[in-house]
Amino acid sequence: MTASSSDIEKAAGVLRAGGLVALPTETVYGLGANAEDPVAVARIFQAKGRPPSHPLIVHIGGAEQLDDWVEDVPATARLLAAHFWPGPLTLVLRRGRRVPLEATGGLETVAVRVPDHPVAGALLAAFGGGVTAPSANRFGSVSPTTADDVRTELGDAVDFVLDGGPCEVGVESTIVDVTGDTPSVLRPGGVTREALEAVLGGPVAVPSTSRVRVPGQHPSHYAPRARVVLVEPGKVLDEVESARELGHQVGVFLPPSLAGTPVKAHATVAVPASPAAYARGLYGFLRELDQRGCDLIIASLPAEEGLGLAIANRLRRAAGPRSAQHA
Ligand code: TXA
Ligand code: MG
Repeated sequence: MTASSSDIEKAAGVLRAGGLVALPTETVYGLGANAEDPVAVARIFQAKGRPPSHPLIVHIGGAEQLDDWVEDVPATARLLAAHFWPGPLTLVLRRGRRVPLEATGGLETVAVRVPDHPVAGALLAAFGGGVTAPSANRFGSVSPTTADDVRTELGDAVDFVLDGGPCEVGVESTIVDVTGDTPSVLRPGGVTREALEAVLGGPVAVPSTSRVRVPGQHPSHYAPRARVVLVEPGKVLDEVESARELGHQVGVFLPPSLAGTPVKAHATVAVPASPAAYARGLYGFLRELDQRGCDLIIASLPAEEGLGLAIANRLRRAAGPRSAQHA
């Protein structure tokens, strides 16, 4: 069920009153608050169990509002905004005075994006201000791509959930830092590196570590409960067999090259051959294997080009070492 116009009005009222609204975007669902209300922003961190030093993204209604929220917009940022907004691109720029430090985790930069979803757009228009929103999951776990996922993740910690159906893109936005001399990708996402390079007319760096602390870069982010093990596609069947012999409830991401092959796993997901379909389904697949009681998920990485770069990034982090914090 997609949100009605009275749902949108109600959600805008919740934001004005300092409450939290879960909103659909084209990437994943966000947990939104009035970006200019430090108390409401603090509630986001509490609801997610996220350390307050981790910066949030401010969602705005259109590129023409950019100067209301940031200082010194460089030409590169305007170019990228003109090409990709509304859409799954987040720009890191110098913080404007309207943005409280609570929303940026104390940083003098701010991440901004214009989401490409009719419900998010309607909410931003009805509310009139900026909505700061991280993904609407508990800190470290899998991002929600349906309204039901949000309810499972956050329960009563969210005041109102706007349902906008399943998310089209399925992985988070691409974050590009445009505060330096050359733009650099802090997190691969829904806008591909190739698309950025086509617009910028040159190579774009995707550093593996950034000088800014980015919680999405924490090794064990985007993790299901089950342990995720990454193997070469040609080794998937052998790995499933040995994990099963060890007594695991094995879930498997069956690569397209093995489509139709019978596997003796506890639960199997057929990985779509199209990267767009894979990205759209990725978090749902992880959730499904968790729900079906798997304690181990065997997957392999797709080619790291196009959306494959973001998918591989999320799978690596899902497979990363876990701290007690994420247990
Ligand atoms: O697609 C998305 O980006 C979704 C939807 C809801 O818009 N949002 C999302 O938010 O993924 P979150 O909080 O889960 O991830 C935001 C990322 C974090 O890794 C954070 O560190 C980074 O953006 N970030 C925010 N502000 C930043 C800044 N000033 N400098 C560097 N990174 C920043
Ligand atoms: Mg997140």
